[in-house]
Amino acid sequence: MNVATTSHDAASGVKPVRIGMFGLGTVGGGVAKLLLSRRDIISREIGRPIELTKVVVRDLHRTREVEVPAELLSTDPDAILEDPTIDIVVEVMGGIRPAGEWLRRAIRAGKHIVTANKDLMATEGVELLRLAAEHGVDISYEASVGGGIPLIGVFRQDLVANEVQSVHAIINGTTNYILTRMAQDGADYLPALAEAQALGYAEADPTNDVEAIDATYKLAILASLAFRTHVPPPQIFREGITKLRAIDFRMARELGYVIKLVAIGRRHKGADGTADSIELRVHPTLLPKHVLLAGVNGVYNAVHVQGDLVGDVLLYGRGAGSGPTSSSVVSDIIDIAHNVNAGVSNRVPFRVTDNLPLLAIDDVQSRYYVHLWVADQPGVLAQIAQVFGDHGISIASCIQKETDAKAGTAELVIVTHGAREAGMRDALHQFETLSAVRDLGSVLRIETP
Ligand SMILES: NC(=O)c1ccc[n+]([C@@H]2O[C@H](COP(=O)([O-])OP(=O)(O)OC[C@H]3O[C@@H](n4cnc5c(N)ncnc54)[C@H](OP(=O)(O)O)[C@@H]3O)[C@@H](O)[C@H]2O)c1
Repeated sequence: MNVATTSHDAASGVKPVRIGMFGLGTVGGGVAKLLLSRRDIISREIGRPIELTKVVVRDLHRTREVEVPAELLSTDPDAILEDPTIDIVVEVMGGIRPAGEWLRRAIRAGKHIVTANKDLMATEGVELLRLAAEHGVDISYEASVGGGIPLIGVFRQDLVANEVQSVHAIINGTTNYILTRMAQDGADYLPALAEAQALGYAEADPTNDVEAIDATYKLAILASLAFRTHVPPPQIFREGITKLRAIDFRMARELGYVIKLVAIGRRHKGADGTADSIELRVHPTLLPKHVLLAGVNGVYNAVHVQGDLVGDVLLYGRGAGSGPTSSSVVSDIIDIAHNVNAGVSNRVPFRVTDNLPLLAIDDVQSRYYVHLWVADQPGVLAQIAQVFGDHGISIASCIQKETDAKAGTAELVIVTHGAREAGMRDALHQFETLSAVRDLGSVLRIETP
């Protein structure tokens, strides 16, 4: 696409809002396309001309989907950072370094920031927000979680009167696509991953997505907004989807559940005047098929929030891609431009004030689905029930599936009532020592948002 640029400011005499952008990839390309092709509409919206002044990339000669005038491109970050006329820096290059350092320099130079960078905001966001407040500039990062879904603004403004009780989120489109294929086609993990890679939904190295690392970054950002508490992503319990098997999906369906990678944040009320705490975890989860999140399929994302006043809110949409993400980035730019026009900054200050303690994963309670093969002989069920009982776990239901007469084994699916994670872990260790337990299949947590 070739878009001609015109000099509105010269014509109107009004000082334009000038944008400098780091990155011109999937997101940056979408943002540039919008800023250039909808320049007049955006300018009308903010009441001043908007101008994409400079775009910094790694490789000036790369072929790009959006054709940006050559004179706008540079490989030198100082072309943005040292240009006093640039009002807003858009960071859509990703990674923590050098992005973090460049944004700190931009903030100190009095420039407002729009970023889509979840890694950076999850790890250094609190510090960047503090620095921005000190320098009287804004940081907006709507695109960092949930792509095009309005989330950050919803927490910062629309739900701010609430005490958020819980957040349940499907916030990784790659894994949701893979799990949807596994559920719908009965596919195993590896073929479903290969299909996602062929369609461009999963990267060649899918580790960040399938090991739930990406989702912990996003949950860290959501938790800072929902519970006003900063938790470094490595402290968030996570389990990926790589060990799920086709049989788990069949069993889940028979039991009335679907399997999703769910990021969970929950507030625990302190009893007798003790402080509240929060639990944060990301793992494959059995959701009853009637709950709202259970119907979120393919690359779609959704966040189910429970607030003490508002009750249930579901935010649903496309979590990635050039269009949805640039929608969020450009909305942030317009919002900041309104602030610049009004001569205000930090109009909606965001502070991580509460710093609630994080509940240790050992103390988290949940219901479990346990799938195992045992010796097909009398007394085995009693042994299993005894081990669970010894660890304070009570069985809600137990179904005996197939028996394999040749191997002398029976397949069991057990659903428990709520139990402590530590108790379940110890019970599973004990199963490994029982000769009657021939194979411990999957153990999955069950959640009803
Ligand atoms: N893709 C999505 O759907 C999506 C959704 C939500 C959030 N995000 C976030 O948005 C950000 C950008 O993602 P993306 O998918 O657009 O990435 P991308 O397609 O890989 O593009 C990255 C861009 O940044 C430039 N870049 C990278 N390192 C640079 C450096 N050191 N100096 C100068 N330029 C550099 C690259 O330049 P060259 O083009 O010259 O290589 C490229 O244009 C990331 O933080 C990502 O997490 C992405």
